[in-house]
Amino acid sequence: MAYEVIIPAAGQGKRMGLGKNKLFLELDHLPVFIHTLIVFENDPNCNGIWLVVSSDDKKQMNELVKKYAITKVTALIEGGSERQHSVYHAVKEIPDDTIVLVHDAARPFIQTDQIARLTKVAEEIGAAVLAVPIKDTVKKVDGDLVVETVERSSLWAIQTPQAFRISILKDAHEKAVVDTYIGTDDASLVERLGQAVHIVEGNYDNIKLTTPEDLYFAEAIVAKRRTKN
Ligand code: CTP
Ligand code: MG
Repeated sequence: MAYEVIIPAAGQGKRMGLGKNKLFLELDHLPVFIHTLIVFENDPNCNGIWLVVSSDDKKQMNELVKKYAITKVTALIEGGSERQHSVYHAVKEIPDDTIVLVHDAARPFIQTDQIARLTKVAEEIGAAVLAVPIKDTVKKVDGDLVVETVERSSLWAIQTPQAFRISILKDAHEKAVVDTYIGTDDASLVERLGQAVHIVEGNYDNIKLTTPEDLYFAEAIVAKRRTKN
């Protein structure tokens, strides 16, 4: 199933603490965001990549896109102050009648088979997200007092990509603008419309590089894949 993908890359990587965008960090000799782009470059179902970049990083990211021969970048879109604004800037540009994926540049370990399963569900239902069952016990806490243990079987950790019919994602973002609502992911904007969002079980390797410890896990995933290939 053919799709377009929006890749928000316009953050600052503050929690990684490098003093620059974490997406320039090299993993296995390639910048993090180039790993992410290569997955979509090599997926025959991906028709176009809408890469959202900050004005500070635009020149350098564009040079790296060229250096690594990524040909599917349809447009470099200017980022916004929040991730949601960055995504919305791209949503406005996507042509009608397509499936659109939103995938964080900071998740370089996404794999094509997961994308294919997700896209299929989004085409049938309208909205779908990759997710994995939570492994930890989760408790609700007030101050330092446990209020309740949340039943774990109903808890899933939500990842990207998240996939939508573009008309649904456009409506959801437009409604969020009207309501000045900021959600932590795109699906939450769609849920507010009363639209069903389905989960598709993903993979624990699809981590987001957020804090410095995530880099140990990233190196381990790279090493595991190297021995498999
Ligand atoms: N992002 C974006 N525009 C923003 C903020 C984030 O395009 N205004 C992108 C990031 O580049 C990243 C993805 O959204 O690929 C997920 O965001 P996150 O992991 O929070 O990255 P940062 O915002 O860069 O990190 P931090 O929150 O630690 O500053
Ligand atoms: Mg952020």
